[in-house]
Amino acid sequence: MKIFSGIQPTNQLHIGNYLGAVKQWVQLQENHECIYCIVDLHALTIPYDPKNLQEKIKETVIALIAAGLDPEKCIIFTQSHVKEHAELGWLLNTICPIGELERMTQYKDKSKKFKENINAGLLDYPVLMAGDVLLYKGQAVPVGKDQEQHVELMRTLARKFNQKFGKTFEEPKSLILQEGAKIMSLVDPKKKMSKSDDPKSCIFLFDTAEAITKKIMAATTDSGKDIKFNLTKKPGISNLLMIYSLLTGKTTQELEKEFAGKNYGEFKKSLAQVVVNYLEPFRKKQTEFAARDVYVQEILKQGAARAQKIAETTMREVKQKMGLI
Ligand code: AMP
Ligand code: TRP
Repeated sequence: MKIFSGIQPTNQLHIGNYLGAVKQWVQLQENHECIYCIVDLHALTIPYDPKNLQEKIKETVIALIAAGLDPEKCIIFTQSHVKEHAELGWLLNTICPIGELERMTQYKDKSKKFKENINAGLLDYPVLMAGDVLLYKGQAVPVGKDQEQHVELMRTLARKFNQKFGKTFEEPKSLILQEGAKIMSLVDPKKKMSKSDDPKSCIFLFDTAEAITKKIMAATTDSGKDIKFNLTKKPGISNLLMIYSLLTGKTTQELEKEFAGKNYGEFKKSLAQVVVNYLEPFRKKQTEFAARDVYVQEILKQGAARAQKIAETTMREVKQKMGLI
């Protein structure tokens, strides 16, 4: 299977990014042709500082390799290094009904959040994203639940293109995990954990042991005192149980048994230890790669060169079919 996915270089990676998306990426690279992209062009649609964009990109690559991506097994590159992304994005714009874009949940959320900066890129974001995947004729897209609607649009655009210009693209499917696809905020367990929220609501992959413990101990829990998995009645504890389960491989039922009769404090203390232990090797690797600037730049350079070749071939076919050459 041809796999494509992307991540924005906007902030540090958190455990939601890892459990919902990146953990799948690491597994898929073993048996599939995988392309993973740091989507800097997408990141321009919300306020950002040009002075530190390069630094953020570097941090994101380091985070991905520290979390287990292996540049020998997959392609890792920066979106803007392959200019065909913008080019295919434009061509797909011409077949995308604007109504499809206006109803996107992420567009609605972001235009509320960034009222001062509702730029056309924010609306057009899902078309660029469709181009990202179609450029490599991607067949499957491992993402968290929040991206499902965008992958649906990819299929719509692939179908429309094929109907208009002849069979060119496959319709990519999303790979969304049954569990972990939506890790919730530690502060408000009704909202998803998000990079751009309060840092107290996220466990970042490279948080110190002290920071992790402090955040988990302070996480919002529910009324009552039983450690029970119940998403509607106990969203706070259920989210913590889910994280515990995903990091240890124990089911939430097993955990309920293990913690029967214990209080929230005891459970949280144990979870904090689990998270600290799980993330410790990530932190070590991050420190190691942070000191190897040349190596990191080389990964991106080679990744872009490999991606470029595939992108050029697709663009030639697309342009021919659209009558541009
Ligand atoms: P982003 O942080 O928006 O660049 O997202 C990168 C990847 O992480 C995407 O596949 C998202 O769907 C996924 N993701 C982001 N937040 C969460 C979350 N709270 N739970 C699970 N997956 C998430
Ligand atoms: N929109 C995705 C996110 O916010 C990132 C992304 C951009 C992406 N292009 C992609 C994900 C292509 C999968 C495939 O998380």
